[in-house]
Amino acid sequence: MNDDEDLSAPVTMEMRLSVNGIGYPITVDTRETLLDTLRERLDLTGAKKGCDHGQCGACTVLVDGRRVTSCLTLTVALDDREITTVEGLADGSVPHPLQTAFVRHDALQCGYCTPGQLCSAVGMLAEARAGWPSIVTADGGSVDARLDEAEIRERMSGNLCRCGAYVNIVAAIAEVAR
Ligand code: FES
Ligand code: FES
Repeated sequence: MNDDEDLSAPVTMEMRLSVNGIGYPITVDTRETLLDTLRERLDLTGAKKGCDHGQCGACTVLVDGRRVTSCLTLTVALDDREITTVEGLADGSVPHPLQTAFVRHDALQCGYCTPGQLCSAVGMLAEARAGWPSIVTADGGSVDARLDEAEIRERMSGNLCRCGAYVNIVAAIAEVAR
C-alpha cells in the first residue's frame, strides 16, 4: 500500500442500470445503495427509506423479478440486471391488478409502506406460482398458488406497516392470488 493513498476516497465505476425498461448509463460510488441511486440520482422516489437496515421492507423493489430490499443492495452489483420499481408495475395507464386490489380493499392508510408492499407482493406471487414453499406450507408439501391467509401473512412478513393495514393488505393480495 502506498502511504499517500487516501483510503477514504470514493471508488467509482461506470455502469448501465436498467430500471423499468429504461437504461441509465451512470457512474456510481461503489458504496452506493440501490435505494439511494433510485431516489437521489434517478428521481424514482416510489421506493421508500424506512429503516435503511433491511428490517421494514419499505424499500422493496424487484431485481430480475425477485424481491430485494434496495437499502441493502449495492448498485454496483446490478450491471445489466433488470430492476422494477413501483413506478414500473402499471402497464401504461392500466394499473397492475395488485394496485387495483389495494385501492378496492382500502389496503393503505398513510401509504408509506405501500410501494414496498406492492413490489413484494408481485415477487411473492411469482414465488408461490413457482412452487416455493414457506415455513407455514403444510407438511413442507406443494404450494397452493391461491395462498391462504397464513401463507400470505408469512410470505409478506418482511414488509411492515406502521398503520396496521394488514387485514386489508392480505385481503387485496388474496383476491389477486385467487
Ligand atoms: S428501508 Fe430497506 S428494509 Fe427498511
Ligand atoms: S399504510 Fe402507513 S405504514 Fe402502511
